[in-house]
Amino acid sequence: MSFTIVVGAQWGDEGKGRVVDLLAADADIVARYCGGDNAGHTVTVGQKTFKLHLLPSGLVHEHPVGLLGNGMVINPKTLLREMEEVRQAGLVINPERLKISHAAHLITPGHIALDSGREKARGSKMIGTTKRGIGPAYTTKVARSGLRFEILNDPDIFESALNDHLEDVNFQLMNLYQEEQLDKGQIIQDYLDFAGQLRPYITETGDYAHRALASGKSILAEGAQGTLLDLDHGTYPYVTSSTPTAPGVLVGLGLGVGSVTRVVGVAKAFQTRVGEGPFPTELTGDLALRLRGTGENDWDEFGTTTGRPRRVGWLDIVLLRYAVRVNGITDLALTKLDILSGFETLQICTGYRKGESIFSDLPLGPASLGDFQAEYEEVPGWDEDITSIRSWEELPLMAQKYINRIEELTDLPIKLVSVGPERSQVIMR
Ligand code: IMP
Repeated sequence: MSFTIVVGAQWGDEGKGRVVDLLAADADIVARYCGGDNAGHTVTVGQKTFKLHLLPSGLVHEHPVGLLGNGMVINPKTLLREMEEVRQAGLVINPERLKISHAAHLITPGHIALDSGREKARGSKMIGTTKRGIGPAYTTKVARSGLRFEILNDPDIFESALNDHLEDVNFQLMNLYQEEQLDKGQIIQDYLDFAGQLRPYITETGDYAHRALASGKSILAEGAQGTLLDLDHGTYPYVTSSTPTAPGVLVGLGLGVGSVTRVVGVAKAFQTRVGEGPFPTELTGDLALRLRGTGENDWDEFGTTTGRPRRVGWLDIVLLRYAVRVNGITDLALTKLDILSGFETLQICTGYRKGESIFSDLPLGPASLGDFQAEYEEVPGWDEDITSIRSWEELPLMAQKYINRIEELTDLPIKLVSVGPERSQVIMR
């Protein structure tokens, strides 16, 4: 039995899909536990690049069963489209291979319209959401008026609940946001159709996962977003509305605390974020362009879900240490080390300054980050292209030193380093 969690140790987009893809080779079950199609995981296998938003990325392997846990908010239209895309690529997606929790919540066009309406109303205080309806879907969940997948089993009850939901949304759109009302009839018709297609996939996934563990099987929980986007532990209010940190896995899959065997934290060799909010090590100008890339390549720093250019900056160890703490990370994976080739020197943020005071840890958590300036340790860079390197010994000495320094500062081993987007471009340690 093993239960491995992969979490993003930064603001999402750390390259978790890659790491999951490697670990999924040994997993019986791959599971998503939070968020929805705000996530975007890019996995390249041979000539084919998959951009998955809802399905667990481990499903690109032929053997594991995929679970969409109760902690998720799922747009059925996106899910059905993605299931079809993956089928077209030759993978089997059927109710034996994919199970959706009866307690996961549905995202409707109502949630999406409210997401846009609220962002517009926030004006200069906008969060920069992905506009996929995530926040409003979790809002209805917490308000106890959400639509859970189990309701799809009874079309009459579903139709009536969906109608009530859309009436409420239309009231809000008209009276709070002065937006056009949605066409209830069309949405209900579409959603009854989606319900028919997805009904066979609805399962008590917590029970399924528990029995699997009890019979010695292995589960890989795939994080979406990242630690600093966590509703409680992130840079609030510039966060998502779920719990992507490791404790969210237990709630989001319905499993007990004692079952976890490993927590892998995935961090990029530098820092990125999309959307608004504080970012102490952010870079602009030429340095930023070098880290971001032009957008011509799949792996350049542009959002997988929205295509927005990501903000980029130097690696922030204060935040990484914080991520280690709130997730209980047992080992790290460092991605995109190849992007740092060619810099004469690199900066690692090891503390913050506010006025005359220096802090090596966050005095009040990440939400207060905007008040602090990064303090850097400068380390030498390396010139060599490392994209074809596959072993630790072959890495340039300065790249080894960069990795060793991160290990020292976080007090954790880095067991995997990625040096390019291909499945094979990794160094295992
Ligand atoms: P929401 O999750 O769409 O509500 O967006 C809230 C914040 O989280 C925004 O800053 C988004 O850019 C960010 N966000 C949501 N999902 C992801 C992700 O998968 N990667 C990176 N940022 C994300």
